[in-house]
This record gives sequence, C-alpha cells and structure tokens, in this order.
Amino acid sequence: MLPIAELHLHLEGTLEPETIFAIAERNGVELPYADLEDLRARYAFSDLQSFLDLCYANVAVLRTSEDFADMTTAYLDRAAAAGVRHAEVFLNPQAHVERGVPLRDVMAGVTGPLSESLRTHGVSSGLIVAFLRDEGEESAMATLEAVLALDAPFIGVGLDSAEVGHPPSNFARVFERARAEGLHCVAHAGEEGPPSYIWEALDVLRVQRIDHGIRCLEDDQLVQRLVQDQVPLTVCPLSNVSLKVVNSIASHPLPMMLERGLKVTVNSDDPAYFGGYVDDNFDALMGAGHLCAADVATLARNSIDASFADPSRKRQLMSELDVALADPGIDTVHQGPPGSQP
Ligand code: ADE
Ligand code: ZN
Repeated sequence: MLPIAELHLHLEGTLEPETIFAIAERNGVELPYADLEDLRARYAFSDLQSFLDLCYANVAVLRTSEDFADMTTAYLDRAAAAGVRHAEVFLNPQAHVERGVPLRDVMAGVTGPLSESLRTHGVSSGLIVAFLRDEGEESAMATLEAVLALDAPFIGVGLDSAEVGHPPSNFARVFERARAEGLHCVAHAGEEGPPSYIWEALDVLRVQRIDHGIRCLEDDQLVQRLVQDQVPLTVCPLSNVSLKVVNSIASHPLPMMLERGLKVTVNSDDPAYFGGYVDDNFDALMGAGHLCAADVATLARNSIDASFADPSRKRQLMSELDVALADPGIDTVHQGPPGSQP
C-alpha cells in the first residue's frame, strides 16, 4: 500500500447507511426510510443538488459530540486501511448548528479523534471548516467568527455545496478574514460551475488548492495558469461519475489533466454515497486503464506535496513513499494506494 494524503473528504459524506440507522436508533430519531434497502435505493443521483438533499437530510441523525466523534473515527479506520497517512477533512458546521446542535459539541466531537489520529491510526490530520455557499456570505462570516471564538483547532476554510449561482467572489471578505487569521484557503470550483469560478477562486479568494476543478479543461488560459503555478486540484473521480459531472470513469478527464501537467490528486469526496473510498477511486481509474505505475507514483507524490502537513511530516511521508515505490513487492498498478486488497 502506498502512503498517500487525502485532501478532499467531507465528513458528513462518510456516514454509511448502517451508521445512519444505528445513530438514528441511539438518538430516537425517526428516519423517513422503511429500511436500509429503501435508503440505498435513493443513492442514484441526477446532479449535485440531488445528492446534497439526501446527504443533508441524513445528517439529521447527528445530535451529540459522541455522534460526531464516531463518524470521524469510522472515517479514520477506513482511510488508514486505504493507505491514507495524512487527511484534511471538511466539515460544514452550518448544517448542524441550524438544526440546533451546539457548535461546541460539533467541533469537540470532530476535533477529539482528529487530534489523536496520528497516535491512534498513524494518520496525521487537519480540519477544514467549509461554508455552505448557498447560504451566502453573511452566514459564512458568522460561522467563521463563531468557530474562531471557540478556539477549536482547525487549519483552514473551504467553500462547498450548490455551486452554480453562488460564485466564489461572493465570499471575498470571509476568505480575507480567514487568511488574516493565518488559515489555509481552498474552494470547490469547476465541479458543476464554469471555469470563471475557478478564476475567481484563484484571483479573488486566493485559494491554495481548487477542489474538483475539472472544468478547467474548457479554458486553455486557465489550464496554463494552473500548470504554471502548480495549483493542486483535488479530483474525485467516483463522485464525478455519481453526480453526472462526467459520463463514466472511462471518459473521466483525469488522464488528460495529468498529461497537460496539472497538479492532480485523487480523493473520495463523499465515499459513503459515491461507491467508495480513496483506494476505490484509484482502483476504478486503474480498472479503466487510466493509470500507469508512474502516474500512480505522481498522484501519491502530489497528494503529499499539496497537503498542508508541516514540512517535517511531508518529508517523512515522501521518504516512506520512496521506500514503498522502490519495493519490488509492491505492484503499484494492482496493489498500490489502490489498495487495501490485492
Ligand atoms: N458537499 C459534499 N460534497 C460536495 C461536492 N462534491 N460538491 C459540493 N459540495 C459538496
Ligand atoms: Zn467535495
């Protein structure tokens, strides 16, 4: 298994159907599904919004800090098994505070397991507080101020949820405030939204990474800029297929993105909803004949390099990766990070 970093992962999107039912029962929450099968039958999405509707309906089961801690620990268990050695995870506090869950409980539940993750799982980690872009700038700013006031550990801010109609430039002041606090800045752009949203994320929000970004290929000048500045793109292939952003894994633009010199990483986005974790994403790409061994090595290196891990952790992970790549016992194509299983 190659050591990799996962940089695009929504904790709310890691709630597996069984977990949703188990936590609902624990909290006495009535679910609008007859059974597991009924819930699973709803995992056929037509677009991003259809997924968001289901995902945010399901988080209604999360009520206590223990619920948030269990969700986080379950992700760390699965990620570690997939070869993830560093994880930067998104959380949408607005989705929970608006339901009446105290922000303190949300943050305590998530940051507890994350602060111990290196010791418990061998996975270093960081939390990125993401704003629901469809709720606007004022709500995002209030959320940022509330999280800052709690003094809970987080490393950056992100922008997610319904993209079209909610351009990054709407959030200029929030990102400026976050940067002034020394926080890292990333934003979803160019998933469903046009290349102009990627330009805005770069030039107005001054983000350090673009989440998704696959629609950059529609704008040659933008590709040139992203290549020149080696801006990391956190691509999520199974998500793109599931949300009908691309037609199939076979037609996914990731090979083209690598060919053009873009700094691409592979990630799982919302693994409980899109058919798998980060190793499953690698497996799907390899199954489609998209990756040679050198590509897998590049993607693994990119993930570590594009992370916000401190320099000594990055050096450690890079040398672990070099050792793994030099090991003839590891077939990077068939057992690579790709791979909890042969
Ligand atoms: N929230 C969770 N997953 C997302 C995605 N793929 N795009 C935008 N917002 C999200
Ligand atoms: Zn995402």
